[in-house]
Amino acid sequence: MKKALLILISILLTYIVKADEGMWLLPLLKQQKLAEMQALGLKLQDYDIYSPDSSALKDAVVIFGGGCTGEIVSSEGLLLTNHHCGYSQIQMHSSVENDYLTNGFWAMTREQELPNPGLTVTFIDKIEEVTDYVKQALGKDDDPDGMNFLSSSYLNGLAKKRVGESFLQNNPGVSVEIKAFYGGNVYYMFTKKTYSDVRLVGAPPSSIGKFGADTDNWIWPRHTGDFSVFRVYADVNGHPADYSESNVPLRPKRWLKISLKGVRENDFAMIMGFPGRTNKYYTSWEVAERRDIDNSVRIHIRELRQKAMLEEMLKDPAVRIQYSSKYAGSTNAYKNAIGSNWAIDKQHLEEVKKAEQDRLIAWSKQQNHPEYESALLTLEQLVYERKELRFRSWMLDEAILRGIEFVKVPTDITRLCDALCSTDKSDKDHQMHLLELACLRFWDKNYSPQVDRKIAKVMLAEYRRQIPAVSQPAYFSVIDKRFKGSVDRFIDYVFDTSIFGSEKNFQKFKASPSAKKLKKDPMILFTEAVHKEKALLAGELADFDAGYAIEHHTYVEGLLRMYKDKANFPDANSSLRLTYGQVKGYSPKDAVYYECQTTLDGVMEKEDPNNWEFVVPARLKELYETKEFGRYALPDGRMPVAFCATTHTTGGNSGSPVLNAEGELIGINFDRNWEGVGGDIQYLPDYQRSIIVDIRYVLFLIDKYAGADYLLNEMEIME
Ligand code: ARG
Ligand code: ASP
Repeated sequence: MKKALLILISILLTYIVKADEGMWLLPLLKQQKLAEMQALGLKLQDYDIYSPDSSALKDAVVIFGGGCTGEIVSSEGLLLTNHHCGYSQIQMHSSVENDYLTNGFWAMTREQELPNPGLTVTFIDKIEEVTDYVKQALGKDDDPDGMNFLSSSYLNGLAKKRVGESFLQNNPGVSVEIKAFYGGNVYYMFTKKTYSDVRLVGAPPSSIGKFGADTDNWIWPRHTGDFSVFRVYADVNGHPADYSESNVPLRPKRWLKISLKGVRENDFAMIMGFPGRTNKYYTSWEVAERRDIDNSVRIHIRELRQKAMLEEMLKDPAVRIQYSSKYAGSTNAYKNAIGSNWAIDKQHLEEVKKAEQDRLIAWSKQQNHPEYESALLTLEQLVYERKELRFRSWMLDEAILRGIEFVKVPTDITRLCDALCSTDKSDKDHQMHLLELACLRFWDKNYSPQVDRKIAKVMLAEYRRQIPAVSQPAYFSVIDKRFKGSVDRFIDYVFDTSIFGSEKNFQKFKASPSAKKLKKDPMILFTEAVHKEKALLAGELADFDAGYAIEHHTYVEGLLRMYKDKANFPDANSSLRLTYGQVKGYSPKDAVYYECQTTLDGVMEKEDPNNWEFVVPARLKELYETKEFGRYALPDGRMPVAFCATTHTTGGNSGSPVLNAEGELIGINFDRNWEGVGGDIQYLPDYQRSIIVDIRYVLFLIDKYAGADYLLNEMEIME
């Protein structure tokens, strides 16, 4: 008993807000964290970082594309982010003749910078707390399903109302957004400016920007030069505008100075960016649910899928290229789930959350707030009751919807049928064209029906093994009725007979299209059945959502009241945050210590010309051998590559600027170690590290490797 208590106390002490924990909101920085940051080494004042009335460092930090961060590094709109964040743009401009993925790309003049339709860069102009405003509106508006308080469409409607239509009309590219924090206990409004002419300036070859690929993903020590360079353009008045030749480089409010001073263990470091999602306010039951359902299903199903995929990839080099990106996407979340479960068990995350709940219960008894204890009881009940539905939903998502590629076939056959049966020839051609386009969406150059067929067999068999027959989509009963329960025979039949099963089948259908064929097409029937099942499960789970959201809101409210002014931070929600800590190595296991800085020596150690993940380009080897590192070298002459820090980051922080005590750029964040991904639930001071490409490596590559040193002229480089 006593021993258990001691263990519990030691666990708690480890987790009571440590200096490095937290994704902090900028308007609260001064009040919550500035003193601690300065004690750790920060040389700046809060207004240097964030100021509501004048420009500050935060004005150089942007949302890059859908889910990454970027930073402005020159007065002419030059932007840095990760190679993996710009990957699809680099891929889009690549062809066999100009393979920028393989060889890298460098615009040697402004005219050579490449436009990227659809890519945007967003600045945060203004951040305001609007909790009272939102709560007032919530009290007045009708709310049929009780979810307005978290609904982004409702909240963004309120944001528009607050600023007025004319404000938005008079300010091109400007939008407003209200986001919920702390489960809807607090609200902030963000005024954002979005630029849509963003051009690719440069990228290293994948053998540098993606060095170590999947094997090294989520791994420290790391040797990846994960960066790419873009430029933001605006119209001649500096306003956001769609791509036009007459656009000019943006003159930003603020850009970051770059430091060549480098980092040493224990140096102060801070990161600003847009972390996507964390679950710090999970209850202990949700921690168990995450481990036993979400993560477990993901790990198990992806293991099977990746094994089947890899077998095909190793057999055929063409398949290897086709599936390398899909394989990488699959392993990224898979490895994350493994790290997450490791942390939940080894770092006792269930117990940590349980202890916090118990503290709240004791406090609420004392304070006569029975609602907090009752919220917890309801949450426990809800998690228990949604168990089976959640398992079915995760199985359906992982094994079928993400697992099998052909479930992207078009299913709106009534419309297609009508058109195909119509006597109007031009309409018929048009519909056939649409069908072809829909088909192309998954039948692109990276699709192999053979691979999909093989994986579909594995996925469907496992789904059928784990989900009771009565809970499977009704259509699946044909497997028993017509194929004696053989999934293999069923899937063969699906591919052999569906018009989408092969190029040959599709051409045959085109020659004599008929509505009848579409109506009994097995891929369409299968896909329809799966989507119906998805909708059913989503609907049933949604019944739990409103109840969950309300109780979660109450639970977090209780925690906020109990901890009062003790600094606390809300879960990540893709809003601008700051995290700070120290450059620091760690001990992953007994007797092992990982240092905080890697060098080009490590790249050469990992070199393997026979493994595409670890090929070192000849030019880099040459520079290594002649030691042409110039001003970018470490004092001992070696070339720095990456470093790690105790900062609290998550997905979405990729591309984020890493700043030193003076607020100068020392690196670009791009990953975490797998031992630290549990930090999404509970920060792990001894294990969690952000993985950062050293800015000296970035400049060295631009300057010495690519010979694009003219770019350095527009940067402010501090030696
Ligand atoms: N793990 C990093 C993140 O979550 C990098 C992913 C890109 N790299 C890769 N090999 N898949 O985004
Ligand atoms: N690699 C992640 C990203 O792309 C960062 C992380 O998960 O730490 O945002």
